[in-house]
Amino acid sequence: MEAVNHFRHTAYACIQLQLFLLIGFASAGNPHLHYDWLVSHAHRAPLGIVKQVIVINGQFPGPTLIATTNDILNINVRNDLTEPFLLTWNGVQQRRNSWQDGVQGTNCPIPPGKNWTYSFQMKDQIGSFFYFPSLLLQKASGGFGAVRINNRIIIPVPFPSPFQEFDVLIGDWFNADHRDLRSLLDHGNSLPIPDGILINGVRPYQATFGFQPGATYRLRISNVGLKTSVNLRIQDHLMLLVETEGSYTLKQYYESLDIHVGQSYSVLVTANQTAGSSYYMVATSRFIIPELAGIAVIQYPGSQGHPIGPFPPGPRPFDFRYSMEQARSIRWDLKVGAARPNPQGSFHYGLINVSQNIILENDMAIIGNHQRYTVNGISFVQPDTPLKLADYFQLNDVFKGDSIPNAPDGRYPALGTSVFDLKYRDFIHIVFQNSLPTLQTWHIDGYNFFVVGMDEGKWDSSRRSTYNMIDAISRSTIQVYPNSWTAIMVELDNQGMWNVRSQEAEKWYLGQELYIRVKGVGQDDPSTIPTQDEVPIPANVIRCGRAGSFT
Ligand SMILES: *[C@@H]1O[C@H](CO)[C@@H](O)[C@H](O)[C@H]1NC(C)=O
Ligand SMILES: *[C@@H]1O[C@H](CO)[C@@H](O)[C@H](O)[C@H]1NC(C)=O
Ligand SMILES: *[C@@H]1O[C@H](CO)[C@@H](O)[C@H](O)[C@H]1NC(C)=O
Repeated sequence: MEAVNHFRHTAYACIQLQLFLLIGFASAGNPHLHYDWLVSHAHRAPLGIVKQVIVINGQFPGPTLIATTNDILNINVRNDLTEPFLLTWNGVQQRRNSWQDGVQGTNCPIPPGKNWTYSFQMKDQIGSFFYFPSLLLQKASGGFGAVRINNRIIIPVPFPSPFQEFDVLIGDWFNADHRDLRSLLDHGNSLPIPDGILINGVRPYQATFGFQPGATYRLRISNVGLKTSVNLRIQDHLMLLVETEGSYTLKQYYESLDIHVGQSYSVLVTANQTAGSSYYMVATSRFIIPELAGIAVIQYPGSQGHPIGPFPPGPRPFDFRYSMEQARSIRWDLKVGAARPNPQGSFHYGLINVSQNIILENDMAIIGNHQRYTVNGISFVQPDTPLKLADYFQLNDVFKGDSIPNAPDGRYPALGTSVFDLKYRDFIHIVFQNSLPTLQTWHIDGYNFFVVGMDEGKWDSSRRSTYNMIDAISRSTIQVYPNSWTAIMVELDNQGMWNVRSQEAEKWYLGQELYIRVKGVGQDDPSTIPTQDEVPIPANVIRCGRAGSFT
């Protein structure tokens, strides 16, 4: 029922938005969308065990944010929880506006009982994303929801308009309260094996998607879980991959799709079966024992009850090779435009000279009797003042720029506040090296990057000859397989203080993150760089820590 209501709500929001757009087009400028979101506790039992969850306007998952390229969103978030709260917009770029990123390094939390209005533009973006609570492991209790940024009407979408769109939020679920899970981590333990996998916040067989024979549907899928990769497949239906995290992909059919924590995909599914039947949508866990399954039901008109037959088969649970081959098969469609009319391929990233090489190696270490996760030997600790505010108010002793080496240097693992100083407009090459036997996923806020290569073993510069310098996919979250590396290239075209993190909640919470401070050098030499300044500090900014006394 909950899932059905969720979709009703979405459809309703769609109609509202269309009306709004008509009005928006009548007036000049980009439409402003206003939302009031009440974040509060509620009780749900997605796996039969009652848990205090986080709902937004009573909904679990939260409302879908539906916008169009360049819309300006104002989201007034009222925190009725007993803990501080922030939302982050996973993959939404907020150009030159890291003030709105909603992570500990950029924002003071919204205190319990208070509200704060996020205000940002969906500048030059299209695609499928999601938002989630960034603090205190609250994501384990919900508070997440889908984000859709549609093309402006004047920019063609590179596939026929689907009959309907569905959000599919898949995630591992723990019956334990997020505060208890946090306490485990605080006391040096790991998260347990999840209790199950939810699709749109409900247990197996509760989420249903109605299909009309012959119609095509766009599924916007995100892995909103804490730590578990999933493999998604639909009985007797193929998925045509069309988009990932704001890039249109070369269209390819997949029988099953691996989706790692924090990643988003759009697929088209054509309802080529006949009325009267229903089919399994299965999301099984990857790389853990026991294998867990989230199950939803595709219902054709007149179907009664459960699907029949065996589950559609998936890859073997520990088949990393299969997963890596699939990741390599996902390519950028060079011929089509995304948010702008010019084709994606007109940005010839392969011709740009790299200005800096960085190797980020993730590891784990015991520091002060606690298990921590590190990047180049440093396990991130939050200072008492958000980095962005410390930078703005020139509080010089909160953090130091370039406080992390640009390659592992064999140092003894330690706590620290890692900030890379990087130059606006530079084009950098980053190798994520994973020397652990578990999968890793990395995300960079404010950016999409080109995934130019990945392979097993240790990276060395000879691997560059294997890079895809033509049509590598551009996205914001990428996996690194166990004892493997993934190489990316990124144009630093977005000024600000941006979070680079493990998408896995446990590794993030225990220190696997850093910030990149991307600053224009235009002030120093205005003749060379066409400086676009950052968006000014918001009038409603919340001050805390050592920035608390500044007005
Ligand atoms: C809090 O909500 C009130 C009422 O909706 C609004 O007027 C005010 O601007 C909000 N405060 C912030 C800091 O966004
Ligand atoms: C529908 O498409 C799937 C995937 O291509 C195929 O396996 C199946 O046989 C098709 N079914 C019908 C009834 O055409
Ligand atoms: C890249 O570097 C080479 C050699 O320094 C130079 O000739 C070329 O113009 C540069 N390309 C770009 C796009 O800047």
